[in-house]
Formats: sequence, structure tokens, C-alpha cells
Amino acid sequence: MSHILSAVAWPYANGPRHIGHVAGFGVPSDVFSRYMRMSGHDVLMVSGTDEHGTPILVAADAEGVSARELADRNNRLIVEDLVALGLSYDLFTRTTAGNHYAVVQEMFRTVRDNGYMIEQVTRSAISPSTGRTLPDRYIEGTCPICGTPGARGDQCDTCGNQLDPTDLINPRSRINGEKPEFVDSTHYFLDLPALAGALGAWLEERQASGTWRPNVIRFSVNLLADIRPRAMTRDIDWGIPVPGWEDQPTKRLYVWFDAVIGYLSASIEWARRSGDPEAWRAWWNDPDALSYYFMGKDNIVFHSQIWPAELLGYDGRGERGGAPGELGSLNLPTEVVSSEFLTMEGRKFSSSHGIVIYVRDFLKRYQADALRYFISAAGPETADADFTWAEFVRRTNGELVAGWGNLVNRTASMIHKRFGAVPAPGELEDIDRALLDAIETGFDTVGGLIAQHRQKAALAEAMRLVGEANKYVADTQPFKLKGQDPATQERLATVLHTLAQAVADLNLMLSPFLPHAANDVDRVMGGAGEVAPMPRVEEVAELDPQVLPEAFEGRSGYPVITGDYAGAPSWGRHQVVVGTPVGRPTPVFTKLDESVVDTELARYADFLPDDVTGA
Ligand code: MF3
Ligand code: ZN
Repeated sequence: MSHILSAVAWPYANGPRHIGHVAGFGVPSDVFSRYMRMSGHDVLMVSGTDEHGTPILVAADAEGVSARELADRNNRLIVEDLVALGLSYDLFTRTTAGNHYAVVQEMFRTVRDNGYMIEQVTRSAISPSTGRTLPDRYIEGTCPICGTPGARGDQCDTCGNQLDPTDLINPRSRINGEKPEFVDSTHYFLDLPALAGALGAWLEERQASGTWRPNVIRFSVNLLADIRPRAMTRDIDWGIPVPGWEDQPTKRLYVWFDAVIGYLSASIEWARRSGDPEAWRAWWNDPDALSYYFMGKDNIVFHSQIWPAELLGYDGRGERGGAPGELGSLNLPTEVVSSEFLTMEGRKFSSSHGIVIYVRDFLKRYQADALRYFISAAGPETADADFTWAEFVRRTNGELVAGWGNLVNRTASMIHKRFGAVPAPGELEDIDRALLDAIETGFDTVGGLIAQHRQKAALAEAMRLVGEANKYVADTQPFKLKGQDPATQERLATVLHTLAQAVADLNLMLSPFLPHAANDVDRVMGGAGEVAPMPRVEEVAELDPQVLPEAFEGRSGYPVITGDYAGAPSWGRHQVVVGTPVGRPTPVFTKLDESVVDTELARYADFLPDDVTGA
């Protein structure tokens, strides 16, 4: 039994999230966390909305509302979407919480006191026509590393490298196209070179573990080659105040400095809210605890370099020494589990270009588990993957409805009709034992694959066993065992008992992937429908209002996602109870009409090329 931290990337609150986002961080982290809980581990799954930085400012400016209003609105929308997907966060909070501000400032102060935050004068961009500072993201130009035009001043989306606006070739303001003017401005830099030795040693050890995905570890190790100090403050008036610079309201901590600290602050917030304020330490101070970070590939550098460097600096483990602050020695990530990108009908998702499917719109029309299934079966686990409506319909109808749903439906309806309750079996025949043995072995295989973040293979194996069970129905033909003689009746009872056990087993095995359906299937089979605990939204009071700046005046609380997940059944076979009443089943999965493909594509007709829409 271990303490396992599931650290899930924090979605930006600059707008609602689309299915590409939840394919990267959401579903994989939930499948992993649910499985680990069922395996008896103490899982703490945390995240929240990422509300600082220019993404929020840009969106707020575009709408003519304040950054805080925009963040409040999107925080709530995102919370609702993630709950509807059944993502089992222990705490999903936000970065504009007093607790988060306090933890971030504690980290900053200690890293600085330990000598790893150095002041440097930089060139900062201002708009010559207005005199206002131009945040990094408001500037674009050609990437100096890969040569792609349209790279932003903070990061190039094409090659994934972090940039400074002064690196850009031919920089331009995104607001009015003018050439920015660069003036002197003092900032704090995280002294990554002074931490490079410790970072390298940690990465080497991680590489030796052999558990990281090859792309991710290679990319992370390569980052060390070009290590240099990185600015951790910005010329911006939206963000966490810089300790010591409170009199400079146009300088704030860099959004990425604070966002990654969210994993720690959310763990602390969870502990404070759960009544044992020190409970978070079991996941952070105990060196035996494990931590897994889930994200899309554009986040790797922040999780395999910046965040570990912040932790090492806090701990005083760089070449300047130092000592940890009041939070103690904090664990570095066990594994950075990064997925690749999801595209849609062969295109990059782009809200501004209308190539987007928001989670909310999707869930209005389709079942959450149909989306979870698609993402788990065909998502961007180790290579980019494409979402198409045709494939979505094919997988839903062919695999969920005709495969798993059909097995459940036939089993329940035969038991209902012939016995009204799960029958006691007679002597098992070889064919019965073969199915039950294969499925029992499946728990180890499927579980092992989930533990290694090979969820596609895990789901494929579980679905292969569903296929075996359907084949068993075809081979044993229970619907033909009609005679009233005792031998036929006993054989029928044995087959249906075997099927009831198979359905119960497969349902548990699939429950990390399909939690809503798992509860429905359990109900169909006469259970209470509580095999997969569900998250809920709770309105909570702000814990530390005094820490927040004036912009938050009047905010008393916010919605969080939380839940009680301890009741999940253990991973493995639970014997079905003879005599459990089974009623007439209703289908668990909704079959989709083929017209869904055209209807959905028509929504994007203006944005997709003709060969995709068939126009
Ligand atoms: N908001 C960032 C994004 O959507 C992810 C932040 S993950 C963090 O790309 F936890 F590190 F903040
Ligand atoms: Zn580039």
C-alpha cells in the first residue's frame, strides 16, 4: 500500500475546455486514480483551474470584463464539465485561492532565501503607441529555434520550447501589429544552472527506472543541454504579488511559477478542509510516496524541469546549498506521464477557428462514458490521435453497444426471464471454468497495464475478454436450454451463473474507464449501483480571504470538486450472490444513429475542408 499523488494538469480558465484537453490530462488521470484506489492505495488526486497569466487577460480584454469575472465564470463551467465526466478529484480547486497564494509566496521566499532566485535586468516590451507593457503572449514573431512564424513570446507551440519575447525574430504586437519597444525592467530569475546538477541526477535516476515514456524522458534530458536562468516574474498586473515587491503592482509572479505549485497547495487545501491540516505530508514529505503528473506534451518542460527545480531550490539541494522552509523536504515527481495531442477530423483544435468540440456541448448530446471510451481506446496516449465522428459512432455502436452492452443485456434478460434472480450453479464444465479463469487472470493483466500507463492496451484486453464472454454465449447457447427436465435446468443455471460472474468481473475491470456505466450495469444486475464512486461539486468558503489582493474583495467562496472514494470495491473477483434479484434490463449504452456523423460535421462545415464534410 502506497501513498499515491495523482497530479493532474490545471486547465486554463480562459474559456471552456474542449475534448482535446480532457483527452490529455483528464480521462487518463482518472482511470489511473480509480484503478490505484481499487488496488488498495491511498490516492490523492488534485488539480484546479489555472487563472493567472496572459491567457486570462487576453480573454477578459476581448470580452470587456475583468480578469476576475472571467476566471470566476470559467472556473464554474470547468468544474461542472469535469464532474459530468466523472473525474474523481479529491480536490479540484483554483489558483485564485488564498491558500494557494500563501503557499506560492512561501515557496518563492524560501527558494530566494536559499539563493536560487536572482535579480536580473531584462528587456521588457512596451507598446510605443500606448506606453503600456506588452505581456509575452501579446507578442508574436518567428521562432528562433524552429523558424515557425506566429510563435508567441512565451512559448512556441510548434516545437514546444519556452521563449522570451526578445528571442523572437521580427516581433509584433498581436493587438495592433506594431513593433514592440524594449525597455529595462528588473525581474527575478530561477537560477536553473545552479540547480542543474541536482536536476540531472534526478533525471538520470528517473531514466534508470525505465518507467517514463521514451519521448518524455528523452525530451526532458535534452532540456538540460540548454539550461539557463528563467524569469519567474512578469510585467503584468494580474497574478500573485511578488514577496518584497508589493509596492510594484505591475509586477507579478509568472503564471507557470505559481501553477505548478498548485499540486502542493491543493494537497494542503484538501488536508485543511478534511479536518487534518497535516494530512498532506504523507504524500509530500514521505520519500516512499509516489507521484504521477498527467498532462499534454506542451506541458512537459514545466513538469520535468521548472517544477522539479522549484522543489530542489526549496529544499536547498542546488550548488548553493540552503535548507527547506516550513513545508519540509518535498518529493520530486515519480513520473511525468505526458500524452500527445488529439486532433479533430485531421485538424488541430482551435477555438478561434471554430474547430472545436467543447466538453459541455458533447455531453449534452452523448454519454460521458462514450467519450471516455473513445479517449481511452483511441486517444493520444503515445502518439497524436485523431477524433472523427465516424470513428466515434463506429466505436460506440460496434464496441460499447454491440459488445459490452449486449453481453450485459442478454445476461440480465435471460436471468430475469428464466429465474428472476442469480441462480445457483451446478457442476462447472471445462468451458465455464475456462471463461472464469481467463477473466480472473484479466484482473492482473489489465491492472498491470493501467499501472504502466498503457491504458489503450489495458482497455483492449478487457474488451477482448468481453468478446470471450460473448463467444461463450454463442458456444453454450443458453437461449436453447428450454426443457423443464432437471438436467437442462441445471445446465442453464450454471451457464447463467457463470455469465453473471463474468459480467460482474468485467464490470469492475471496466469501471476505471466507464464509471457511470459501471454503476448502471451493477444496478441492472441487481446491485446498488455504487461500484464506481462519483465526484460532486461543493460550494466552499474561502479559507484565507486576508491573503488575497483587493481584486477579490467580496468573494466569499467558490465551487470545488471533491468526493468520497473509499467505498470503491477492491480490484479482483467478488463472488456474485446467488438469489440477487435481476429485473428486466434497460440498455446501458445508447446506440447512435449513423446520421450523427453528418449532423455533427455540418456544425463545422464552414471551417473544415470539403473532403472532410463531403460537401
Ligand atoms: N494551464 C496549463 C495548460 O493548460 C497547464 C498548467 S498545469 C500546472 O497548458 F499545473 F502545471 F499548472
Ligand atoms: Zn519553435
